[in-house]
Amino acid sequence: MEDGRELAVSLRGVTKGFGEGSARNLVLRGVDLDVYYGELLLLVGPSGSGKTTLMTILGGMLDADEGQLAIFGSPIERMKEWQKTEFRRNNLGFVFQQFNLIPTLSVVENAAVPLLIKGERRKKALGQASELLDTIGLGKQLTMHPTRLSGGQQQRVAIARALLADPKLLICDEPTASLDGETGKQIMELLRSRAMSRERCVIVVTHDNRIFSYGDRIARILDGRIAGIEEKKPERASATPDKQSGDGGSSPPVHKE
Ligand SMILES: Nc1ncnc2c1ncn2[C@@H]1O[C@H](COP(=O)(O)OP(=O)(O)OP(=O)(O)O)[C@@H](O)[C@H]1O
Ligand SMILES: [Mg+2]
Repeated sequence: MEDGRELAVSLRGVTKGFGEGSARNLVLRGVDLDVYYGELLLLVGPSGSGKTTLMTILGGMLDADEGQLAIFGSPIERMKEWQKTEFRRNNLGFVFQQFNLIPTLSVVENAAVPLLIKGERRKKALGQASELLDTIGLGKQLTMHPTRLSGGQQQRVAIARALLADPKLLICDEPTASLDGETGKQIMELLRSRAMSRERCVIVVTHDNRIFSYGDRIARILDGRIAGIEEKKPERASATPDKQSGDGGSSPPVHKE
């Protein structure tokens, strides 16, 4: 516990390189990063700075060379492969830079996959997925296959799927990259309301300065390390989780002193 905030994720001295000998590319050079419950953390940095690599390590899908990674108190780097898989299934959700939709399933089926895996009844799972897809403007595409969708539409299906999985830690890699400004804001509102929970947190990797106002903190990665962390004013402390989307978070925060 620090400043009343409870630590959800803690990375210490995480390093990762690719290649051997003189061709070795040391991408992460000792990353220290904490993420707290109830926050939306933005991770920003130039292309090639190691953001996706770091998120892949955090998800237990790639091993760090060195360092400690505790997620919800579990030291993920010490787990066996099957334990990582189980841990990931129970706690983590991802929106990948490539959307990884299943081409043989319809839009609504793709979004409902996590609910179906959890054993939810098909009708209920598809109902819940349809409702969410409808709110993000995909009500007319429910029965289409993802190959017929635009990049931005596919991205929204991937986000709906991740939200329906309801993970404790949701990691989104460039979730608004293919979206227009308004849709991007709407998605960030959804992610932000998701983060506003004592048991959850969201990390969003982004280049998109249109969405910077949505982060509780912005961590900048540069030369393989976290170069700085910008704290935002606690404008969300008095906000309600079911706040309707509207101004997209760009209006000045209202402070109660
Ligand atoms: N599997 C791999 N094998 C070799 N090099 C890799 C591998 N994955 C990433 N890299 C290298 O690591 C560096 C960081 O890549 P990464 O994808 O993490 O960057 P990024 O910050 O996510 O960039 P972008 O903003 O373009 O998505 C790059 O130089 C990349 O070429
Ligand atoms: Mg990347």
